[in-house]
Amino acid sequence: MKKIAIITSGGDSPGMNSAIRSVVRTAIYHELECYGFYRGFQGIIENDYKKLEIRSVSKILGLGGTLLKSARSLDFHDSEIRKIAYQNLKNLSIDALVVIGGNGSLTGASIFSNQFDIPVVGIPASIDNDVYGTDHSIGFHTSLDTIVDSVDKIRDTARSHNRLFFVEVMGRDSGNLALHASVASGACFVIIPEKEFTIDGLAKRLEEGSKLDKTSSVVLVAEGNSYGPSYKIASDLSDVYSKYETKVTILGHLQRGGSPSSIDRILASRLGKAAIDVLIGGESNKMVGIIKNEIVINNIDTVVENHNPIDESLYYLNEIISR
Ligand code: F6P
Repeated sequence: MKKIAIITSGGDSPGMNSAIRSVVRTAIYHELECYGFYRGFQGIIENDYKKLEIRSVSKILGLGGTLLKSARSLDFHDSEIRKIAYQNLKNLSIDALVVIGGNGSLTGASIFSNQFDIPVVGIPASIDNDVYGTDHSIGFHTSLDTIVDSVDKIRDTARSHNRLFFVEVMGRDSGNLALHASVASGACFVIIPEKEFTIDGLAKRLEEGSKLDKTSSVVLVAEGNSYGPSYKIASDLSDVYSKYETKVTILGHLQRGGSPSSIDRILASRLGKAAIDVLIGGESNKMVGIIKNEIVINNIDTVVENHNPIDESLYYLNEIISR
């Protein structure tokens, strides 16, 4: 193996740059050439790349976003177009591909690796933390810190005005962010795709709080919950429970930006090196992850067929202590 390609794909997450830096520098340490393709799989299709040297990845360890840019390539769903991507890599004599991204990108990596004879290794990066085979995906902790910081600020107004705030966070298919954020910010209730939700259940919870002299409340809402958007939840609640003046805050892409936390920088650095170690070891179609603070190597196919479950114990913990 002499040359590797690297992409960041799907939704950006804080720490992707730290992972790029680690992959590039570990590869160069092992005397491999490194080529970064822009905008994920789309850049491979369009042959849009740059050779990356040691200094190409200077000063990016603490930068949010991704130096290589990112995209969700629809073209890559087409098997004929994937042939063009493969040919582009072959023309450049690329021997292996590193894909940094979440479930959609790892699915693309798995399909590509199964269709063509090219070693592929994935690195999980998604604020949603819904990738199977790793306790943590790159970006999750930073995003969590951003959410908790935001809720702390919102609470100042909630307390001062005796209000109820619905704070909507990302998580299209997963309540991981919302659940962790609810424990870390003391939200009295969390609405996530993995748990059944009723307006009456929420009203009951708020009334319990009121009886315990609670004068303001925060409810965290995962965008992917099955009931509906926060504004609908707030409006439906007001039909049955009107003790609070109610406000809705949607945090949106605030949650994806910003400098990666130390935990994400270290995680990304470890996973980046692990990805190169996997390729040097002659393995293919793998995703590196971290479980109980140890690096693990998963089959990508297994990863994309499964879903990272929520930690049920956090849900019950929150019911007990956030009142
Ligand atoms: O998968 C990461 C994620 O941030 C989801 O939580 C969110 O639903 C989605 O990406 C938003 O994607 P986009 O930035 O393309 O709108």
